[in-house]
Amino acid sequence: MITVFGSINMDLIATTDRLPKPGETVAGNSFATAAGGKGANQALAARRAGRYVHMAGAVGKDGFAADALALLDDAGTDLSLVQHVDGPTGTALILVGGDGENMIAVVPGANGLVTAADAETAVGKMSEGDILMLQLEVPVDAVECALSEARVRGVTSILNLAPLTPDAPRLGRLADIVIANETEFERLAGQDGMDAEAREAALHRLHQETGQTLIVTLGGDGVIAIRNGVISRGQGLKIEPVDTVGAGDTFCGYFTASLDEGLDFASALRRAAVAGSLACLKAGAQPSIPLSQDVADRI
Ligand code: RIB
Repeated sequence: MITVFGSINMDLIATTDRLPKPGETVAGNSFATAAGGKGANQALAARRAGRYVHMAGAVGKDGFAADALALLDDAGTDLSLVQHVDGPTGTALILVGGDGENMIAVVPGANGLVTAADAETAVGKMSEGDILMLQLEVPVDAVECALSEARVRGVTSILNLAPLTPDAPRLGRLADIVIANETEFERLAGQDGMDAEAREAALHRLHQETGQTLIVTLGGDGVIAIRNGVISRGQGLKIEPVDTVGAGDTFCGYFTASLDEGLDFASALRRAAVAGSLACLKAGAQPSIPLSQDVADRI
């Protein structure tokens, strides 16, 4: 069983020909809302990959709450650990430029009210061999408590180091498996501006120090990882991205689902990388997460 302990947002998305510079106003082409939040996106990806998934987190008691949960609910995700708290649902203000790149500002709302006690409740329902997936969009003490409870219970913890926060390097040491993009990995390793050779050396060094499985996503260049002393690589698909929002979350959810299903590590990386590529071909975080069969057709 997989439990995702993390954020649930409503995404407010505008598209532009190019992203503005600080202080600049650019014309927008379209506006849409879609369910998002790194936690919710990863939970939906794991569910669409075919696994049983609990989502744990919080929404507000406003008009966004039901929409933010709708796709998770439709997919059959267990939402019994989602609280409805006083205040607004989390929102993300997202600009998507013509090249598919994006800028995001997240206002936590209800996500900021998730507590360490909530983490204890959620992880307290898990058993040895279950998988706990976390990100950094809910308060640090809640993430830290979830990670230490997971260790006590023999639950495998997977921490996606996004979005990058000052606590990310410290929290990163507490998980069994860490998934980071290039920038997040540089912060974890304490080394800026790594080329491919330096990244591989840092993976070996950190892995030797901690024994953790470390996964670095490289956008269009796929993924590199180290597990049990062995470096693995996975390639996604060659695509022209339309919107990369949620692609990293799709990777995380599919990877976690694949481990839960018992796939070998290399196959899990490849499947997750292909799913992440497919998520770049449609607009919106959750609407773009592919179904299991669509991913299988492209592996
Ligand atoms: O990773 C993409 C997500 O980041 C968006 O859905 C947005 O809600 C922000 O949390």
